[in-house]
Amino acid sequence: MEKDVYILGIETSCDETSISIVKNGCEDVYTCVSTQMDTHANFGGVVPEIASRMHTENITFVLEDVMENSGVTWDMIDAIAVTYAPGLMGCLLVGIEFAKTLSLLYDKPLIGVHHIAGHIYANNLVEPITFPSLGLVISGGHTELVLMKGDYDFEVLGSTLDDAIGECFDKIARIIGLKYPGGPNIEKHAKEGKPSYEMPIPMNDDSLNFSYSGLKSYIINLVHNETQRGNEINPYDLARSFQDVAVDELVRKTRLAIERYSAKNMIVAGGVSASEYIREELKKLCDEYDVHLSIPPRKYCTDNGTMIAAAAYPLFMRGQFSDYSLNAKSHEYFFDKKD
Ligand code: KG4
Ligand code: ZN
Repeated sequence: MEKDVYILGIETSCDETSISIVKNGCEDVYTCVSTQMDTHANFGGVVPEIASRMHTENITFVLEDVMENSGVTWDMIDAIAVTYAPGLMGCLLVGIEFAKTLSLLYDKPLIGVHHIAGHIYANNLVEPITFPSLGLVISGGHTELVLMKGDYDFEVLGSTLDDAIGECFDKIARIIGLKYPGGPNIEKHAKEGKPSYEMPIPMNDDSLNFSYSGLKSYIINLVHNETQRGNEINPYDLARSFQDVAVDELVRKTRLAIERYSAKNMIVAGGVSASEYIREELKKLCDEYDVHLSIPPRKYCTDNGTMIAAAAYPLFMRGQFSDYSLNAKSHEYFFDKKD
């Protein structure tokens, strides 16, 4: 029988300090997440300098919690995985330097993981990804429809021509005066609102690409004009109107992809897939086409070390390790990268 593989995964790219141990790329043995969300909420967004400082303060305690409570000892761990891109530079560096130190100290191989690979492989924590799978990647920096043909083997079918969907949720939240984090607050407000504002359809075409900047500009102008006229904006209705049209577009393009590629399986990845509304709409769509849908539970949609360890597993099995020149990259688009 093959020996079990235990990978320790570290995630510090934004405002969550998280370390996890994952067995065989699919079993979450233990995860600790320390979030800084409440601190950054006071400033209306993540303050990079504060975030990296807090990672430095927290990371040792997070590791201590994992090593005390996971039941896993250092000699059982096979590799140290860490997010190297994309994210806030100072934040990524804290995780990377910590990972390198652990790798040296305990003589374990190092594996650099792209954050989006993490979001994608979070699906393996629920059930093994079936190939081929249609993938919808919706995050703060990505909006793509991809065909996942195998491990780390993707064909991009369509992507955003401008803003990513998560970025758009965050910007609209700011425009209508909702607090950080924007995405979840839009969703919360939308639940209480009516779709009373008319919105433009983002891209009235049948390509698999997305565009969200026109919708964003439209809302900026709308809020500006109404304010100038002395009219109040209803944040609930505006959140609902925006969310409806943004998600309709996501569903419309996903439907086209399902039809065009006769998809049988679909995975969803990225922080935006934490949205209950998006989850429900995608479920309805997939039921309609008899497509098997996998979306990680919400706790694995937001940033965590579990997904990083899960994404490191296929790399570990191929012996694809990083050396100590591994460096942080604040902007690296995942799908450009061939392996
Ligand atoms: O995937 P992620 O960590 O971003 C990147 O790695 O780039 O996801 C963060 C994004 C943010 O833009 C956040 O507003 C969005 O996910 N998000 C949501 C929801 N929860 C998080 N967007 C819409 N509805 C939500 N419930
Ligand atoms: Zn993320």
